[in-house]
Amino acid sequence: MSNPIILGIETSCDETAVAILNGEKIAHLFSSQIEIHKQYGGIVPELACRSHIETIAPLYRKILSVSGCAQDQINAIAVTAGPGLVGALLVGVSFAKSLAYALRVPLLAVHHLEGHISAIFLEHEEVVFPAIALVVSGGHTNLYKMPQKGKYHLLGKTLDDAAGEALDKGARLLGYEYPGGPVMDRLSQKGDRMRYPFSTPNCAGLHFSFSGVKSALSRLISKTDDSTKSDLGFHADISASYQWAIVESLVQKTILAAKQENAKSLIIAGGVAANSLLRKRMKAAGEQFGFAVHIPSREYCTDNAAMIAMAGLSRFERNDFASLDVSPNPNLSLGQI
Ligand code: KG4
Ligand code: ZN
Repeated sequence: MSNPIILGIETSCDETAVAILNGEKIAHLFSSQIEIHKQYGGIVPELACRSHIETIAPLYRKILSVSGCAQDQINAIAVTAGPGLVGALLVGVSFAKSLAYALRVPLLAVHHLEGHISAIFLEHEEVVFPAIALVVSGGHTNLYKMPQKGKYHLLGKTLDDAAGEALDKGARLLGYEYPGGPVMDRLSQKGDRMRYPFSTPNCAGLHFSFSGVKSALSRLISKTDDSTKSDLGFHADISASYQWAIVESLVQKTILAAKQENAKSLIIAGGVAANSLLRKRMKAAGEQFGFAVHIPSREYCTDNAAMIAMAGLSRFERNDFASLDVSPNPNLSLGQI
């Protein structure tokens, strides 16, 4: 089959997302739960699960009409099987299994981070391997060596918070709602990072750690007087230096990994890859040290189902199908499926 039509489903966290991948054509939709969770300052798993249940079927019907694809044209169903919130994953996996059974089409179980990395192939990027993939999201900060497409060796990861989590918590300390990463991105554009410089986190080998810089931010905010704290200029300057420290650490470790592993290219994926400074600094570093840098368009960086359909397509081409008794695994590691 030259161009199979793949339905992608993603429900691992706080976004219900569906997509139809049909050769060059991509249709994708998502329903964000941010409004539900932001009053709690983070994701409430029980509420996430309930919202996925309410949203998944209507969203599926909508993607069929948006894409112009009839249900019986779908050739395979790709779904995130882990990692993520178990109840949230269960909704997507159960829906995908039922549909695969009813339509008599194969099921493709996808690892969420493989989905993020696969986003780069939605835009037909020609990646030269070996590559280093940095996956930076709200739950992960992982560095992989990819000797070829579909093969991953973990080189380093965060020992405490993920980069997105550190940005979200930093923004929260300044009084902003979840998710704080995009807020910090916006505030930093007008900020002076030299006014409150933080040292760049440095951890052993190719690992990351962001708890030190987060504590430094917290200490600085608590010893700042109230009138300064309410000044938008303070928010902008402090965000700029906090974000700079986190981004520098990501760039330095990625370049170190690329040099050590004689990589040809860098792939930067996950929600934090939407960050303006990270995109700019990573491209500049790639140019300086001679690595091709691939970063998906912003719309494919944060959680979406087009990336899951794309990862599913690679599995479909390898005849790597899941059985209908597959269960979601909240702690799934890359390479386990
Ligand atoms: O990949 P993702 O959508 O979900 C997970 O798999 O975790 O990533 C969400 C994370 C959040 O921490 C959010 O604050 C961060 O990505 N994020 C950003 C930006 N857009 C999303 N962080 C910095 N700058 C952005 N523009
Ligand atoms: Zn994600």
